[in-house]
Amino acid sequence: MTIQWFPGHMAKARRQVTEKLKLIDIVLELVDARVPLSSRNPMIDEIVNNKPRLVLLNKADMADKTVTKEWMKYFKNKGITALPIDSQSGTGIKDILPACKLILKEKFDKMAAKGIRPRAVRALIIGIPNVGKSTLINRLAKKNIAQTGDRPGVTKAQQWVKVGKEMELLDTPGILWPKFEDEMVGYKLAATGAIKDTILNLQDITVFALRFLKEHYPERLKDRYGLEEIPEDIVLLFDEIGKRRGCMMSGGYIDYDKTAELILREMRTVKLGPLTFEAPEPVSAEI
Ligand code: G4P
Repeated sequence: MTIQWFPGHMAKARRQVTEKLKLIDIVLELVDARVPLSSRNPMIDEIVNNKPRLVLLNKADMADKTVTKEWMKYFKNKGITALPIDSQSGTGIKDILPACKLILKEKFDKMAAKGIRPRAVRALIIGIPNVGKSTLINRLAKKNIAQTGDRPGVTKAQQWVKVGKEMELLDTPGILWPKFEDEMVGYKLAATGAIKDTILNLQDITVFALRFLKEHYPERLKDRYGLEEIPEDIVLLFDEIGKRRGCMMSGGYIDYDKTAELILREMRTVKLGPLTFEAPEPVSAEI
C-alpha cells in the first residue's frame, strides 16, 4: 500500500476523526508494538483531546517481549492505559472490554446515578494504515459483524458493530498518518513493512535494518545467516549475506536488490525472531 498524505488529506482525515469522536465514549488507539512511537500520529494527543483512551500495542506477537514490557511501563508512567495484543490470533483481545470499563467507570457510574439505563461502551478504533485496524474490528466482531443501524443524531452512514452485549464499535476506523517528515520514522515503518511501496530506497532500508540488527540483535543475525563474526563494515555484511544466500548476478557480482528484498522479507516475517525497533529509554530510542 502506498501512503501518500498531503496537507489536504491530513486535514480531511483529522476532521473525520473529530466528527466521530462526538459519537463515542472511548478511543482505541492502535499502534504497532514493534514501533510504538513511530506508528503514532504526531498530533494524536491534540486530536483525541480529553476523550478517554486505551492504547493497544498490536502485533505484539512480532515484537520483542522484553521491550514490550518497557513500553507498558512507559505508558503507565504517562497515566495512559495500554495493552499488548495480537489481533491476528486473538491474544489479549479479551482484556480490551474490562480495560475500557475500568477507564470509563466514573462516567458510567455517574450515568447510573442519574438513572440512565446502562448501555454498551461505544468505541472508535484509530491508527495509521496497516497497523491492524480491520483485523481488530473483525476479531472483536467475531466475524459475524452485526450492525445495529442508525442512532438518533448519527449520520446515516455511521454503522455500529456489536462486540458482545457490552461494546459497540464504529465500523469504519479513524485513519491517521505517521510522522513522515522524520526520516528515522520512515525507516522504522519500512523495516516493519508498514510502508511497502516506499519512496525510501530498498537498499537504504536494508542498511538501516542491518545496522539495527548488528547493534541490538547480533546473535540473531549470526544464527540466521551462519556468520561467525559480523563484519564491521555494513557493506561487507550485506555482501556476506548475499553470497551465503546465493543472491548473485552473472559475473559473480552480488545482486544487492535481491539481497535487500530477502533480508527485509525475512525480517518482516519474523524469521529473525520477534524484533522491536525502538525502546522507551532515550539511549536506545533513536537507532
Ligand atoms: P489496517 O486495517 O490498519 O490497514 O490493517 P489490517 O487490519 O489490514 O492489517 C495489516 C496486516 O497486518 C494484515 O496482514 C494483518 O493480517 C496483519 N496483522 C494485523 N494485526 C496483526 C497482529 O496482531 N499480528 C500479526 N502478526 N499480524 C497482524 P496481511 O493482510 O497479510 O497483509 P500483509 O501481511 O501483506 O501486510
